[in-house]
Amino acid sequence: MLRLLTAGESHGQALLAIVDGLPAGLHISQEDLDRDLRRRQLGYGRGKRMEIEQDRARLLSGARFGKTLGTPIALLIENRDWPSWQDKMNPLGSPPEGLEEMKIPRPGHADLAGHLKFGFSDLREVLERASARETAARVAAGAVARRLLREFGIEVFSHVLSIGPAKASVEGLQWEEIHKRAEASDLRCADSSVEKKMKAAIDQAQQKGDTIGGTFQVVAWGVPPGLGSYSQWDRRLDGRLAGALMSVPAIKGVEIGLGFHTAATPGSQAHDEIVKGEKGQLLRATNNAGGLEAGLTNGEPILLQAAMKPIPTLSQPLASVNLKTGEPAPAAKERADVCAVPAAGVVAEAMCCLILADAIMEKFGSDTIQEMKRAWENYRKKAGL
Ligand SMILES: Cc1cc2nc3c(=O)[nH]c(=O)nc-3n(C[C@H](O)[C@H](O)[C@H](O)COP(=O)(O)O)c2cc1C
Repeated sequence: MLRLLTAGESHGQALLAIVDGLPAGLHISQEDLDRDLRRRQLGYGRGKRMEIEQDRARLLSGARFGKTLGTPIALLIENRDWPSWQDKMNPLGSPPEGLEEMKIPRPGHADLAGHLKFGFSDLREVLERASARETAARVAAGAVARRLLREFGIEVFSHVLSIGPAKASVEGLQWEEIHKRAEASDLRCADSSVEKKMKAAIDQAQQKGDTIGGTFQVVAWGVPPGLGSYSQWDRRLDGRLAGALMSVPAIKGVEIGLGFHTAATPGSQAHDEIVKGEKGQLLRATNNAGGLEAGLTNGEPILLQAAMKPIPTLSQPLASVNLKTGEPAPAAKERADVCAVPAAGVVAEAMCCLILADAIMEKFGSDTIQEMKRAWENYRKKAGL
């Protein structure tokens, strides 16, 4: 139902996102579009580029006077650094004299496989699109999806669980509190007692010319039960969410709820017993399933954890081979982050928002926001929500 296409190279003129399928009548403001882009750029351990970027999304189509039209939404994020790249990244014309080609692929990147696949002699022709810069376009698109979810009382946020060996604990904290604390932290971490350790791990990596990864959690609360489907493999919401998170560059593992721990937990302790609330409503005693059973939401908060690998561009580069000379050579260097786990969490939020927006339109329609709300109210009454 909802489709997203992005275009643009890392150092090209601009990034573009087209979001198709959203309903008419959704209010949208410039601040809605910019807030998440700003959040994506923050985070201890980011590279110098974040200071240049200061992303803003321009809404080119699909809305009039701050309201969506039900037509494709086009968003454009200009590259503020374009003047210093326009010769090297000119989409037309000829290469400038003395253009230095990148010949040494970086392990952990698309460089080598992209070269073999397309035969480009300059690895820049691979890395420009494979770069995580593209995720800014996803975040802009996700902000529109987030706006739709808010109409139905659904909130999506992320918080960092670990950086290298330093692990946060959020046990006993309410989601609102975790959210508030994460927003106030430059590591997006709700446990201030561990922030120092996390920053030290990032500093240490930087001093050694190294990089560091970590884990984060994406939480969606206020999600009604019954989104998604068990009827076909590709309509299961757990698979769609996990796939969307895995598509974020550098994400190497995704868990839902208790995740990998479920395998070692007896059934009697793994599943969430159904209990009656004070008003007779049906609740769960625990949320080990992370809000998803059989590809459907069950009304509990959706809990997704993701693991991010360390950034593959190192200032003390790994071994590689110069593709022109065939001789061993240290991998190419590019301006890079030391740690981007907090930012990856914001990108993962955007992906989660897009998938949930799709699921909510499947359930409640997608022509106009008013129709969707009527269907939502009927469902709420019928399901006693
Ligand atoms: C928000 C974000 C920022 C990133 N920044 C960098 C970076 O500065 N340098 C780098 O080499 N990789 C960075 N990455 C990771 C690479 O884009 C990624 O590892 C690479 O494209 C290979 O894809 P894969 O790790 O999914 O296999 C970043 C990823 C994310 C999500």
